[in-house]
Amino acid sequence: MNMPAPGFYAPAADRYAHMPYVRCGRSGLKLPRVSLGLWNNFGSVTPQDTARDMLLTAFDAGITYFDLANNYGPRPGAAEETLGKIMDSDLRPHRDELILATKAGYTMQDGPYGDGGSRKYLMSSLDASLRRMKVDYVDIFYHHRFDPDTPLEETMRTLADIVHQGKALYVGISNYSAEQTAQAADLLATFGVPLTIHQPRYNMLDRWIERGTPSLCDVLLNRGIGAAVFSPLNQGLLTDRYLHGIPADSRAASSCVFLNKDNVTADVLTRVRALNAMASARSETMAQLALAWVLENPAITTVITGASRPAQILQNVETVRKHVPLTDEEKAEIEKILG
Ligand SMILES: NC(=O)c1ccc[n+]([C@@H]2O[C@H](COP(=O)([O-])OP(=O)(O)OC[C@H]3O[C@@H](n4cnc5c(N)ncnc54)[C@H](OP(=O)(O)O)[C@@H]3O)[C@@H](O)[C@H]2O)c1
Repeated sequence: MNMPAPGFYAPAADRYAHMPYVRCGRSGLKLPRVSLGLWNNFGSVTPQDTARDMLLTAFDAGITYFDLANNYGPRPGAAEETLGKIMDSDLRPHRDELILATKAGYTMQDGPYGDGGSRKYLMSSLDASLRRMKVDYVDIFYHHRFDPDTPLEETMRTLADIVHQGKALYVGISNYSAEQTAQAADLLATFGVPLTIHQPRYNMLDRWIERGTPSLCDVLLNRGIGAAVFSPLNQGLLTDRYLHGIPADSRAASSCVFLNKDNVTADVLTRVRALNAMASARSETMAQLALAWVLENPAITTVITGASRPAQILQNVETVRKHVPLTDEEKAEIEKILG
């Protein structure tokens, strides 16, 4: 039984009542089926109160895994600073209940030591992340993307050393191919550390992890590596957000360089309208159907969702509270719609 700490946030007493937690691959780490990412809407342009509201809403709803990276902002580093402020104001007494993840691998600073997969970059970046997040360790540290200019052996030895130093409890990789993942897992094993988790992009409109022999899904399942999927809603395209035009407060209308108005194509809208009709027939929202579909893949541990407001988080968590498994007919219909 956790008693509220005076001066800090008093979270919902029933926060663990409705969220399913599943083992991440073969590890003992249990992750919530729905997680929250801080890539967008937690940087310096978002009011701290909005960010705090979203994070605490998520925690109250049973989300324990919060996904960050050194470069999340805008202003790289700003999302980690936001998290650090919320640790100080609200969540420090609950550190042992949080799975905090960060990453390094994309460009963080000018010069030869702020990008890639070198020992020099990863070690200094994680130290800076810990300072910004105001924590002594992260639960998961990821290498953010494969770096062809650094021997994989160097990157994996560094991840293993980070675990041995106690700066991360578990390590993972993101955006690695099936073959690169198998090599990374083999190397880490020689350094005495398991590859616990992979973070690929996966959603109804981007199914690369299912393709190839072996596919990334095959590698993850065969080796007991968990998967935390990013952009499960394809940044909002797989929701009702764009069914009646492009709202001014949406990601596609914002200055985000990864989703813009050109991505909201007639073809995507035709598919999403058909899927949305199916979701309505199941008394679900489009977002809930899209998340449920991802979670039906046995290789997937958790969906890392993004949000611009607390109501989206509550709706997304509701997916696993009330989800009725898709029937074979519904799965076939989805395949037909997706083409
Ligand atoms: N490893 C990597 O390379 C990598 C890359 C990208 C992301 N990530 C991680 O994955 C996380 C999630 O990525 P993402 O933000 O692209 O995820 P996403 O869940 O696919 O998209 C989130 C966006 O969808 C909309 N949305 C969410 N729930 C909704 C709902 N119920 N109804 C209507 N619209 C809804 C919101 O758009 P509006 O803002 O328009 O409201 C929200 O900002 C990131 O925060 C990050 O942690 C990792």
